[in-house]
Amino acid sequence: MIEPGVKRAYDEAMSSGYYKRRRGLIGKYDNVRTFWEDEIIRISLRPFIKELEEEGEGRIKVLDMGCGYGDGYEILAQLSDNIEYKGFDINENFIKEARRIYKDKRNISFEVADFSSGLPLKDDYDLYFTSYGTLSHNDDERNILLLGEIADCSDHCFVLCDWLGAYSYEWQSLWGEEWMDYRISYLPESGNETFPLRLMTRENIVKMVREASSRIKIEEISDRSIFVGRHMDTSEYNEYCKPIRSAVNALFEPNVRTNCETLLIDYHRKEGYSNLNTFFADFSAYWNSLVACMMDLEGDCEVAIQMPEMRKLERLVESDIWMNNSNHRENVIEPQLGYALRNLEMRMQRGLGAAHGLLAVLSV
Ligand SMILES: C[S@@+](CC[C@H](N)C(=O)[O-])C[C@H]1O[C@@H](n2cnc3c(N)ncnc32)[C@H](O)[C@@H]1O
Repeated sequence: MIEPGVKRAYDEAMSSGYYKRRRGLIGKYDNVRTFWEDEIIRISLRPFIKELEEEGEGRIKVLDMGCGYGDGYEILAQLSDNIEYKGFDINENFIKEARRIYKDKRNISFEVADFSSGLPLKDDYDLYFTSYGTLSHNDDERNILLLGEIADCSDHCFVLCDWLGAYSYEWQSLWGEEWMDYRISYLPESGNETFPLRLMTRENIVKMVREASSRIKIEEISDRSIFVGRHMDTSEYNEYCKPIRSAVNALFEPNVRTNCETLLIDYHRKEGYSNLNTFFADFSAYWNSLVACMMDLEGDCEVAIQMPEMRKLERLVESDIWMNNSNHRENVIEPQLGYALRNLEMRMQRGLGAAHGLLAVLSV
């Protein structure tokens, strides 16, 4: 059963035109999605895809649950040439468009189906894939059923679960809540529709997996998009957020000079959450010192110089001096700073639910 608001909200986003395949500073496929979020999903999955390739018989069967336009295929096709992909979604408009986009590919198929009362397509897949908060559409009971049925279907497989983190700075006003009314308001002209999404914690994942099946093992739990989630820019659920995602989009954009002051984070603490405050305060201090030092702003260069990201960044920048006349700062230094900040996030994240996305890789 689909929440009526879910279908209306995604239909509105589709008709806005910003949910289509575009790159750059704005829209669903902005630079942060392309160079940060999709890449982190690939980095998380790479060792498991490699394992499947080594043990498999030449193809990796994937089921993308809540596939939208089938973007999961684009993510996975860069990891292996042997992907045999099936995507399903409850929204038939997505499936119609996905079939049109991939009509020439014989290794891809789509269906309209619903994951809210268990696994709708009971076949044996190597990877059950979700992305960008899709499992937050289900409550825990429905996800327990879904995971349990996946475990029953397969001798050996991996599952990529993707939820919204309960403690993202973007919705600091909602810390302690289990659900949020989500708006796709970061896309211009996408309407006002809201729909409920489950806010997930690490503890809840562990509990759910335990209840779903004793055959499921948690391989890793990780936070993705600590300060670059979509709602940093809307500040709709936390008035203290600055549009950091826009600033990071600018870092990755060719021929655009970023005002680096806009990258600096002024973390606002929330009473009663001392561990989270410490985590976010430390993370922002490292983030700011990297930005400041790289961009010759006033900052703690002593801290930044010790960071592996800073050492690598300096080497890369120095080795590219021959590009000095080709917008060196915009096209060489700034993207490197973007990757350094992404690396900082991957190195410091602790899978606390303290980011837009909370990912879990499970194995059966
Ligand atoms: C956040 S979007 C992600 C879409 C896509 N995976 C991507 O990465 O762009 C969540 C998707 O889940 C789908 N969805 C929501 N509830 C569902 C259900 N009960 N069964 C199947 N799909 C569902 C929505 O229609 C939407 O396409």
